[in-house]
Amino acid sequence: MVFFVKSYGTQTAETYNFKSKPMNPNDTFTLAHLSDPHMAYPGGSRFSDFLNKRFFGYLKWRLRRQSEHHSDVLIRMIQDVRNSQPDHVVVTGDLTHLGLPAEFAKAKELLEALGPASQVTIIPGNHDAYVDGALDCRLLEWLDYMVSDGIKVCDGTDTAVSALFPSLRVRDGVALIGVSTAQPCSTFLAVGCVGNDQLQRLQKILVETGQKGLFRIVLIHHPPKSGVVSWRKRLTDAEALQNAMQDCGAELILHGHSHHPSRTYLETSHGRIPVIGVPSASAAGEDPRRRARYHLYRLSRRSDGWDIQVSVRSYVNKDKRFDTEDEYRLTE
Ligand SMILES: [Fe+2]
Ligand SMILES: [Fe+2]
Repeated sequence: MVFFVKSYGTQTAETYNFKSKPMNPNDTFTLAHLSDPHMAYPGGSRFSDFLNKRFFGYLKWRLRRQSEHHSDVLIRMIQDVRNSQPDHVVVTGDLTHLGLPAEFAKAKELLEALGPASQVTIIPGNHDAYVDGALDCRLLEWLDYMVSDGIKVCDGTDTAVSALFPSLRVRDGVALIGVSTAQPCSTFLAVGCVGNDQLQRLQKILVETGQKGLFRIVLIHHPPKSGVVSWRKRLTDAEALQNAMQDCGAELILHGHSHHPSRTYLETSHGRIPVIGVPSASAAGEDPRRRARYHLYRLSRRSDGWDIQVSVRSYVNKDKRFDTEDEYRLTE
């Protein structure tokens, strides 16, 4: 099936159809962030689906990853997220493991279990774009959860993920800005790239949503700071992205990809931007650092800026449930 996505690229927030009222001082917006479910469903696929990088990815999954990612952990996380009743949920990529059609369909079920597309926002990761065409060919299944506010989807010709990002969704004074770094890469690499075109559009969105007083959250799969992941998993144009953030600012950057928790900061002329990543949503590994967790952010406006409270919900292996591991305030 072909479809056409009208891109944000030629529009500005001024002409864009979203409600941009800043958050009231007494309001709180609760956001759940989870990432990297890595839903692997190789069964039922065609032999020809594996005549590429997937062959090695499948072997690696059988030898190591299969024991790390568990669907029952993911199901318990979904239930815990639902019990937390956040205003919105974001998933920062790697919903699938090998980018197989069956995995895209299973991931759609996960999204539907999390909530309606108006309350759940996703971006793709490198595993969703595992081989050429994997993501673009299956984009339609996830489109409702990716597409910007006010963007029309209709029959047409353009199926490129590049037409969708950066995405922009505004909820109750919070701007959710999705960036795609997902790209197919050679067998032993897991790098990502924002690209110049997307970067230019991102700068425009950051400036315009900032001028409207919105709380700007950038969603990106690959961590934009060096040192969080290894060289072979890096964001290749991280420096260009950091320069853009330096100029435009943002209030929060959320990422996945690392499969371990991380909290760093980008120092900018607008102040420090917290950069926070979470482990895989399905990991029940022996290493506590890699065990599944998600974050709940409670955002509220105060007279001198924003208040950001973080609640860390982690999987407790022996009890097979999620519990609060830590709570802290991001703002001093
Ligand atoms: Fe991942
Ligand atoms: Fe990844």
